[in-house]
Amino acid sequence: MEISRGELLQLRDVIQGYSGIRLEESKLEFLKDRLIPVARAHGAASMSAFSQMLLREMAFGTIKAWNDLLPLVTINETYFFREMNQLELFKNELLPAIAKQKTSRTLRILSAPCSSGEEPYTIAMLMDEAAVSLAGWQVEIWGVDIDGPVIQKAQAGLYPRSAFRATDGKYLSKYFVQEGDLYRVGPKLAGRVKFKQGNLFEMAKWPGFTGFDVIFCRNMLIYFDKPTQKRMVEIFHRAMLPGGYLLIGHSESLLSLEVDFMLKSKSQAIYYEAVAASKALGHG
Ligand SMILES: C[S@@+](CC[C@H](N)C(=O)[O-])C[C@H]1O[C@@H](n2cnc3c(N)ncnc32)[C@H](O)[C@@H]1O
Repeated sequence: MEISRGELLQLRDVIQGYSGIRLEESKLEFLKDRLIPVARAHGAASMSAFSQMLLREMAFGTIKAWNDLLPLVTINETYFFREMNQLELFKNELLPAIAKQKTSRTLRILSAPCSSGEEPYTIAMLMDEAAVSLAGWQVEIWGVDIDGPVIQKAQAGLYPRSAFRATDGKYLSKYFVQEGDLYRVGPKLAGRVKFKQGNLFEMAKWPGFTGFDVIFCRNMLIYFDKPTQKRMVEIFHRAMLPGGYLLIGHSESLLSLEVDFMLKSKSQAIYYEAVAASKALGHG
């Protein structure tokens, strides 16, 4: 199958329109040899026919071709205890603030995107280790990612040593069970995180995906252009409680997006607080 430049650019736009991920033309060129078998496997005679197929799936809400294409274009890099300053802030400042302020004893946390699950499991461990007691609280931790194979890995809960490159050994022995060269999520963690494969741009349609106290959206917005970042962040805003906290990656910023979040900083880490429309973009 020959692929013209026009077909590659069309595919790039279709991928961006669905997932938000903006690919460089050079990356698509590089992927050509892997895209062709995927298109063929779905019976497409050309890359433009494959793009049409992807658009049809978007219209009908099916994800067969998307499921095979997305793992080629997503970057799933993640590990336990990534970006520790911010995690310390979550454990030592945000959790106690929530515990103090909330009248209902419910806590809902979303890791979006979660890749293979290291981030939401880290959140669960930090909640156990926090000085503030959440005994008696009904806690829900969700991990969502668009990429099917990484969600399957998260559900399997089996990790290589490299996933623990930033992890203090005490967590490894307390929360994981060694199986050969791998480490399995142990009884203290198993079942604590619920996982869902899904496109976060469709989150508003998912029953129960509202009322989050904290959303971690780390290291995804960098793959989006600014209007798409804004669209995503607005979706998160609607899914959060007023005053909820949004944590984004170290190399990401909401400052030029004009969204309803206030930038705050504590303990050498920054976070954003969901505010009502008029107060956006102040500094705390
Ligand atoms: C680099 S990982 C970040 C994982 C974790 N938050 C961290 O910081 O370690 C980025 C993830 O974003 C996911 N992703 C990209 N676009 C998405 C979308 N529209 N909906 C859900 N997940 C998406 C990718 O599949 C990938 O696993």
